[in-house]
Amino acid sequence: MLLSAHSGFRYLVLLIGILVIAYAAYGMATGRPYDQRMRILAALFTGVLDLTALLGFAMILMGTFYPQLGGHIVMMILALAIAHMVSIVIKKRPPEERTYAPHLVATLLILGVISFGILAIGRPIVG
Ligand code: HEM
Repeated sequence: MLLSAHSGFRYLVLLIGILVIAYAAYGMATGRPYDQRMRILAALFTGVLDLTALLGFAMILMGTFYPQLGGHIVMMILALAIAHMVSIVIKKRPPEERTYAPHLVATLLILGVISFGILAIGRPIVG
C-alpha cells in the first residue's frame, strides 16, 4: 500500500511541478508582479514532495532496502533540499523584491533530479 501511494504521488509531484513552471514562466513573460498564487503553488509542490519522501522513508523503516536505492534516496534528498532552499530564499526577500525566476529555475532542476532519482531504480518516470 505504501509503495502504491509513494509511486502514485509522483504523478502529483510532476503535475504540480509543471504548474509551478508554467505559472512562473507566465509571470516572467508578462512582467506581472509576484503574487500570492505563485507562493501557494510553490508551497503545495514542496508539501507534496515532502509527503512523498515521508512515504519513502516509511518503506525503508519497514525494511525495504537494497544498494541501488542509495542513488534514488540521494537524488530525492537533493530535490527536497533545493525545494526548501527556494522557499526560504523567497520568504526572506521583502515582498517587492520577490520574483518568479527562482521558482522556474529551481523547479526545472528539481524535476530533472527527480527523474534521475526514479531512473536510478530502473523505474519509468511515467508509466
Ligand atoms: C528521500 C525520499 C525518498 C525515499 C526515502 C524513497 C524511497 C523509496 C523506496 C524505499 C522505494 C521502493 C523501491 C522498491 O520497492 O523497489 C521507492 C520507490 C519509488 N520512488 Fe521513492 N523515495 C523517496 C522520494 C521519492 C520521490 C520524491 C519520488 C517522486 C516524486 C519518488 C518516486 C519513486 C518511484 C516512482 C518509485 C518506484 C515505485 C514503483 O515501483 O512503482 N521517490 N522509493
